[in-house]
Amino acid sequence: MNSNIEDNQGRVALITGSTSGIGKAIALRLSDDGFAVVFHSRLSVEKGEKLAKATPNATYIQADLSDQAQAKHLITDVLERHGRLDVLVNNAGINAMIPHGSLQDATPEIWRDLYEVNVIAPWTLIAESENALRASSTKEHPSCVINISSHAGVRPKGASIPYAASKAALNHVTKLLALNLSPDIRVNAIAPGLVDTPMTKNWVEAQRLWGEKSPMKRGAAPSEIAHIASMLVSSTYLTGEIILSDGGLNLT
Ligand SMILES: NC(=O)c1ccc[n+]([C@@H]2O[C@H](COP(=O)([O-])OP(=O)(O)OC[C@H]3O[C@@H](n4cnc5c(N)ncnc54)[C@H](OP(=O)(O)O)[C@@H]3O)[C@@H](O)[C@H]2O)c1
Repeated sequence: MNSNIEDNQGRVALITGSTSGIGKAIALRLSDDGFAVVFHSRLSVEKGEKLAKATPNATYIQADLSDQAQAKHLITDVLERHGRLDVLVNNAGINAMIPHGSLQDATPEIWRDLYEVNVIAPWTLIAESENALRASSTKEHPSCVINISSHAGVRPKGASIPYAASKAALNHVTKLLALNLSPDIRVNAIAPGLVDTPMTKNWVEAQRLWGEKSPMKRGAAPSEIAHIASMLVSSTYLTGEIILSDGGLNLT
């Protein structure tokens, strides 16, 4: 539990893609920290409603972020239901597994799909929530955006070149927006390595790599990434940082 729990009462956090994996862990952690959280997903409506029901002051909203109209409506909906927004976590993301040497397989369609959800949707959600984030910001609690990118956006690695490039773009957007939205809104990214979620349950090669080569000798649990998100939210000063969270694999 966070010592600032009382400070966070009445504050609202939207976590996209929060019916599973990293997003769910972040939403539950921020709820423990005292926030009213908004769960969100594309298809898993039943799961989202169940999570919201079991979590104090929480709601659930469905929206497909590959559709710009639905992305915009998500923010309107959050503001209608909760009246404010203090923290936006852009976690929802999609992946494509393509060997880096198979250039013909990485089609323009795949590039566009990945950019739509991993880069353009976070941009739209930040743009649509800027006024609300500024309105709720105080010196004690500057508002906060966290983008969940990937170690693949920092190093020349990852499930495919289009995925890695989309996350590198998200990292650069993070820094550019940190410069432009400060001091009211801090903007940071978490760049996880391997995290044990439904997305990675069949990634045998990656699991072997992290188990053998990374200093921490394993991938992360979603709750460990949620802990980093909680630290970023509770900071009043950090902005423009890409927190590489790969158990030290990048050092090897
Ligand atoms: N797991 C890892 O090892 C790892 C490593 C580095 C970075 N990441 C990044 O961390 C984030 C979360 O990954 P995860 O492994 O926790 O994923 P996950 O378990 O597959 O969950 C993805 C979530 O995003 C939602 N989502 C997907 N596409 C969407 C869309 N078009 N519109 C709205 N919501 C959508 C899903 O909703 P539905 O279930 O309803 O479709 C689900 O709630 C992603 O951005 C991923 O790239 C993950």
